Amino acid sequence: MPKSLISIHDFTKDEILHILDVAKEFEANKTQPILRDKVVATLFFEPSTRTRLSFETAANRLGARVIGFSDAGNTSVSKGETLKDTIKMVSNYVDIIVMRHPLEGSARYASEVASVPVINAGDGANQHPSQTLLDLYTIKQTQGRLDNIDINMVGDLKYGRTVHSLLQAMSHFSPKFTFTAPDELKMPQEYKDFLTSKGIPYQETTELTEGLNNTDILYMTRVQQERFTDIMEYEKVKNCYSLIASMLAGARENMKILHPLPRVNEISQDVDETKHAYYFKQAENGMYVRMAIIAYLLGYK
Ligand code: CP
Repeated sequence: MPKSLISIHDFTKDEILHILDVAKEFEANKTQPILRDKVVATLFFEPSTRTRLSFETAANRLGARVIGFSDAGNTSVSKGETLKDTIKMVSNYVDIIVMRHPLEGSARYASEVASVPVINAGDGANQHPSQTLLDLYTIKQTQGRLDNIDINMVGDLKYGRTVHSLLQAMSHFSPKFTFTAPDELKMPQEYKDFLTSKGIPYQETTELTEGLNNTDILYMTRVQQERFTDIMEYEKVKNCYSLIASMLAGARENMKILHPLPRVNEISQDVDETKHAYYFKQAENGMYVRMAIIAYLLGYK
């Protein structure tokens, strides 16, 4: 079975650091057509702006060609074709598959039936490992290191797949966590147990103001409306936090605000003008990191 990236655990610490180094090379030299004979498929069964477009841009900057879909409703999935058959078919056309799907575990399943590498671009509330690698790249870029970072994760820690992947990846680097979430959206116990097993400290709070001044990275997240089965439950928590610029007066000089985006109203637009805002650069970094991931899984770099 070819090597895929489904969970952040699929890469060792050394592989993670290697990807970050290669991404830095790509940031310095943005177009390197080393994959001229390759075809990349982007199969998006769920909406996306950044992940799909940055993967497609990454493939183009590497000289590869891209096929795929952004709406499975226009494919034979709408006629009842199974995920297995879709993946087996596409495997015969391309050299690597990037897939986003609403079902947890679907990406692992796809990698087991595919004859080419699969990159998980998000499977339900489970994992989003390419986002994690770009988050790590951005943390290193802004803090000059990955070790001993104070990181405060805010918002939907229950359904937010980016925080689950990032927490696991940061476990290589002795972080300290604060989890800021309403009771309904707390970090699931399995992830807290994982941290305990690694001896990594965390604290939990429901108050956004409590953890703002003693953190290096403020990792904001959107409440994931699409994961709620009861819309009334979503209505109760949808505006749980809203960060505004005046709340940042006591923040550490080096503190940067990250957000996987899209944002709804958890970060006010006046924050964009502060020295702490870094989420748009973070999204740009996704392109370099995804160039590195594609090149690595295809045996280049
Ligand atoms: N961060 C992220 O996954 O964004 P998209 O949903 O726009 O791809």
